[in-house]
Amino acid sequence: MTGPEDHLRQEMVRLCGLLFARGYSVGSAGNVSVRLPDGYLITPTNAMLGALEPDRISKLDHDGNHLGGDRPSKEFPLHRAFYDTRPQAGAVVHLHSTWATALSVLAGTDPEDCVPPITPYVVMRVGRVKMVPYIRPGDPGMGDLIRALEGRHAAVLLANHGPVVSGKDLFSAVCAAEELEETAKLLVALQGSEVRLLSREAVDELGRVFGQI
Ligand code: 13P
Repeated sequence: MTGPEDHLRQEMVRLCGLLFARGYSVGSAGNVSVRLPDGYLITPTNAMLGALEPDRISKLDHDGNHLGGDRPSKEFPLHRAFYDTRPQAGAVVHLHSTWATALSVLAGTDPEDCVPPITPYVVMRVGRVKMVPYIRPGDPGMGDLIRALEGRHAAVLLANHGPVVSGKDLFSAVCAAEELEETAKLLVALQGSEVRLLSREAVDELGRVFGQI
């Protein structure tokens, strides 16, 4: 017998495996979580996203108590802050993917609007991306930085660290993380070139037709 939680565990293994296979995560970098009716599933600390085992994925209750599986990612407070401030969030993906991390390091990146609207899909899937100041990995203060945004951003860049993307479910969050990574690659490739941004009207139209992120 398999229930919805078993299915989600399998989906985490499958989609994290795809992220790893395509080089969006290397070594044991990155962590992924999903919201459950009775708590959260999150990848274990120091786990390789390409080698997860369904039964070893950590389960936490609503208060963050560890219920089962291996020791949870040290970034749980970061994930938790997205769930608490964005009721629509069903999954959170944090990566150290190369190009989004490059944007988080470049001095010229606007911390208020890290990813200008250069293509429709980044507007539709990722929305406006804010940079939060550097804080060491695993510092619970990361949660406070995210809470201060009051749920206005589905995606952020952690300065000098990497992207964090939330989505309504795991598939959406993974797709948005990939969209952000590939857009960051375009932005770094286009550095120093004059670029044409989507107009305000075009961005508004995307929001009207496809919904706000
Ligand atoms: P964990 O191995 O604890 O998930 O941490 C990895 C990471 O990406 C830190 O930001």
